[in-house]
Amino acid sequence: MVNLCEDILSEGGYEIRSATGSEEALVELSQKYFHVVLSDIQMPGMDGPGLLKEVRKTCPDTEVILMTAYAGLDTAIEAVRNGAYDYLTKPFTQEILIHSVRRGVEKSALNLKLKESQAHLVEKEKLAAVGTVSSWLAHRMRNSLSVILMCAHYLAQKAQSGAGDDLKEVTGAIVDKAHTLESITTDLITYSRPYDLQKTPGSLNSVLEESVSSLEAQIRLQKLRVIRNLDSELPSFPIDPHLLLEVFENLLMNVLQAVAGQENQMVTLKTERVNDSGSAAVVSITNTGSFIDPENIENIFKPFFTTKENGSGLGLAIVKKVVEEHGGKISVESSGKTMAPTVTFKIVFPIEP
Ligand SMILES: Nc1ncnc2c1ncn2[C@@H]1O[C@H](COP(=O)(O)OP(=O)(O)OP(=O)(O)O)[C@@H](O)[C@H]1O
Ligand SMILES: [Mg+2]
Repeated sequence: MVNLCEDILSEGGYEIRSATGSEEALVELSQKYFHVVLSDIQMPGMDGPGLLKEVRKTCPDTEVILMTAYAGLDTAIEAVRNGAYDYLTKPFTQEILIHSVRRGVEKSALNLKLKESQAHLVEKEKLAAVGTVSSWLAHRMRNSLSVILMCAHYLAQKAQSGAGDDLKEVTGAIVDKAHTLESITTDLITYSRPYDLQKTPGSLNSVLEESVSSLEAQIRLQKLRVIRNLDSELPSFPIDPHLLLEVFENLLMNVLQAVAGQENQMVTLKTERVNDSGSAAVVSITNTGSFIDPENIENIFKPFFTTKENGSGLGLAIVKKVVEEHGGKISVESSGKTMAPTVTFKIVFPIEP
């Protein structure tokens, strides 16, 4: 039976793994995602309904189809009540098998899609809530902070003339920390403002160049080598140049901060046009000299995630928001933790035909 089903389904274009027994099947299931499990009801060891129960628990997106002889029909119907997707009564034809498996695969793919969009929705709502609170807090703080900053400057100036070292140090610390708070509030306000894109046809290459120029002094100071691999044929398309400048500046600032204290590291700016599914402009920013831990990678775009003492953790959250407002997607890869570490941020912008 196993071999027969395997032959029929392989011919139908499916990738099959067979197992003789529930225990063996569960091992396979724990290692890889399968759309569908096709199982007999009666088996030595754990039977079909037992396997169904396990699959429902451990792989909720996988659909289970049970096979039974007429005699076991009651059990099969019971199994469907317990979450089996379908049952086939033996003997069945090739068409019936293929048809049932095809629908099971479609259902399973839908399960995954639904889960993904639900997660996306939850994430979006969370961000919106964070945005509302942050914006309120930031606006409330801004005025008081600017007064604190002014007073601190005043005190610091007074301390310059004639006061002792410890007073200079204390006033210096107040000014310093007030500046940090001010930049965090600015980030919060930037993050939570509504983004009404002012789009005009523009060139990604020139926005990238502009971001490098605006950080020129810091780049030179840290001896960061900037390598350009820009596609000069890249067409103009509608972008908001100011917001994208902010995006590239944020990414480059992160690079500068990540390689601070190391000399002669490199950052490569690459643009290219790809035509996989529709036309897209792709920007990648790759730097040497830093690494992002796999456990941090999924968090870095979340607001307030930072590994820096004075970071607000909003840089990449803003970046992601602006990219998505442009209909684009951003992803990150990092490799070589101890040997030749690199980090690459890749942004894909769809280009309307
Ligand atoms: N090029 C990079 N190399 C290594 N780590 C990076 C790089 N870019 C980002 N990161 C990691 O991602 C985290 C989040 O970055 P993000 O820009 O959102 O916040 P931040 O830089 O910490 O603070 P800020 O709000 O000031 O930008 C950083 O704290 C850092 O750990
Ligand atoms: Mg940053």
